[in-house]
Amino acid sequence: MSSKKQKDQSSLINTKNSLEKKVKIKLEKLYETIKKHDFAYYENHNPTISDAEYDEIRRLILEIEKDYPSLITSNSPSLRVGAEPSEKFKKVKHSTPMLSIQNAKNKEEVIAWSDSLRNFLRIDENNIIEYVAEPKIDGLSASLIYEDGVLKVGATRGNGKIGEDITENIKTIKGIPHTIDKKRAPKFLEIRGEVYMSHDNFNLLNEIQDKQGKELFKNPRNAAAGSLKQLDPKETAKRSLEFFAYAWGSASSLPYDNHYDLINFFKDLGFPTNDNFGLFKSIDELIIFYEDILERRGSLGYDIDGIVYKINRLDWRERLQSTEHHPRWAIAHKFPAEKAVTKILDIEIQVGRTGVLTPVARLSPVNIGGALVSNSSLHNFEEIKRKDIRIGDMVWVQRAGDVIPQVIKVIKEKRKNDLTSINPPDNCPVCGSKVVRDKIKLGKKEKEEKYIRCTGEFKCSSQVIERIKHFSSKSAFDIDGLGEKQINEYYSEKLIKSPVDIFYLEKKYKDNPPPFWRYTSGSKTKIGTIKDSALKLFEAINRKREIDLDRFLFSLGIRHLGLSSADLIANYYKSIDAMLENISSNSINQSMQELLSLDGVGEKVAISIIDFFQNSDTRQLIIELIESGITVKNYNKEIKETKISDKTILITGTLKTMSRAEAKVKIELLGAKLSSSLSKKTNYLIAGDKPTVSKVDKANNFGIRVFSEEEWNDFIEE
Ligand code: IVH
Repeated sequence: MSSKKQKDQSSLINTKNSLEKKVKIKLEKLYETIKKHDFAYYENHNPTISDAEYDEIRRLILEIEKDYPSLITSNSPSLRVGAEPSEKFKKVKHSTPMLSIQNAKNKEEVIAWSDSLRNFLRIDENNIIEYVAEPKIDGLSASLIYEDGVLKVGATRGNGKIGEDITENIKTIKGIPHTIDKKRAPKFLEIRGEVYMSHDNFNLLNEIQDKQGKELFKNPRNAAAGSLKQLDPKETAKRSLEFFAYAWGSASSLPYDNHYDLINFFKDLGFPTNDNFGLFKSIDELIIFYEDILERRGSLGYDIDGIVYKINRLDWRERLQSTEHHPRWAIAHKFPAEKAVTKILDIEIQVGRTGVLTPVARLSPVNIGGALVSNSSLHNFEEIKRKDIRIGDMVWVQRAGDVIPQVIKVIKEKRKNDLTSINPPDNCPVCGSKVVRDKIKLGKKEKEEKYIRCTGEFKCSSQVIERIKHFSSKSAFDIDGLGEKQINEYYSEKLIKSPVDIFYLEKKYKDNPPPFWRYTSGSKTKIGTIKDSALKLFEAINRKREIDLDRFLFSLGIRHLGLSSADLIANYYKSIDAMLENISSNSINQSMQELLSLDGVGEKVAISIIDFFQNSDTRQLIIELIESGITVKNYNKEIKETKISDKTILITGTLKTMSRAEAKVKIELLGAKLSSSLSKKTNYLIAGDKPTVSKVDKANNFGIRVFSEEEWNDFIEE
């Protein structure tokens, strides 16, 4: 090769690598964002972005993943559903996973979905695909297991594989049969459907909450979630929940071979099913149904956020299979968000764990699609500037399904002249420290970050409290009973000023029970029930003295470090000792190189990690945590083995028994990869009809095993 050509090629490779690196960083960031929002939605039932925004982020991820499949890591949301099940309930392993669903924003995306199904199944235009369509209920999915006609277990979806056992709560829901006709029902039957709260019951519940001086529920879905996960079934019973059956999990037998007949069969057995339900033969028919329900949405009496389309024939579904995230045979055609006009009463500033200042609009309470809305994050000051939002403005607010709403637009015509525009503060509203705006490097250029940050670090009480909250939170140390309220109290009592203090709490208490745990009854000071809760907390803390390295790193609150990068870094260094040792003795450059070599770790994360492990204050925090008696477990990931795990497979020619898409799914299901070119790294070649002869020859030369389609099917069936 001429040296110019060589140079050209190597510069091409460099550009490609640096582009990939940028994409990797971006993807990592998106994974992080989705994880955060999943947590807010599934765990806290308190989402912070609109459904539409959420869908947009997911869509972006899918697009990038499609172009760069090699950058997908185990943290991709396309490989995961929902959130971890709560420890409050017994766990139930689902016999078949309870998956999520893919979304379509418009008719074009529905058509694209149906085209992809035709391709996958090799059904041409002359053949009709039958679809069922039904409303997408905005509640919580549940699984009901009947054995010999008796309701045995009711469970939540949880993380899709393992849910929470909420049998007693489920039994309080009117309409869910406790027994079904044993003669007609399969011996074992798992019904799946949605638990929801009607608008009437939601309003009633909030009236009661209000009278009792309790916090109001934001929307029917939150109320349903809170009610379903009550520890005392009597509490659930008070909160009138309802149920629609729309699917099934496992069954010992099924009397029909299609969805439509089965749903009618379930209805016959006594399950509530949605009457707005139909069988259709074309996308145009589906869209007419969609438009009709959209028009009647407000009068249904419960929240729905779209229409679900499903392939009717079960044999086709079986062939289509599911991704880790959703079945291919269903899609949700989403409704547009609901909107309302209200007034901005005030803009408050919250200071987060890493010091980021987030402006939040306090709104004049307004009802949007059944939910009372009174505040909305404005994200950052750039956003305020871009939308020119001022206190006193009338604004359009939008809520899509289940989320903290979004200010979309100021109604300028209604603005009074005297409103002043909002500028970012120079000092932190909590601790008074200087506020800075970080810069990010984009290649050679520098760009300013959108957010501003308080530099107070450990001096800023807001940052310290948020750090402790993060430390104790579900994805970090996961300490039961040490939530926002308790942390605020312990902080103001000066009992917890840093995460380390959590592990000395019991000792401090035993040495000298502080007034905080005492309460007054009449004229006497007693130590009673409050003490019990403290003792419970100590137990919870003691249960968590052992932690995996990735969670430990995440809990430290290192800037930009999310769960997925923590996982990668933990997997690389294996132990906390190795990290402390390596990052302090190696040069910054060397550590940088090591960290950046990990697929999925970007520059920002790498810098933060090195900074955290070299800065004496933060390094000290790690050392003190270990000294307090914590065990950080060395990192060992378990991998499930199949006959073709981690193998790379290539197909050449046309397959007779299935489409390439279907073959790919099967291969990936067994833990192998389908590649597009042949190299020495290829393990197996499947030669279909009219294979590329050169590929077969090359495979033979390399000593790669070549299968015919039949041989391959036998091989993996074995
Ligand atoms: S079908 C995933 N049908 O939507 C395929 N799901 O975001 C099986 N949902 O987890 C479910 N109404 O909780 C199906 N008519 C309907 C639904 C529905 C609501 C929920 C369900 C699912 C979620 C996906």
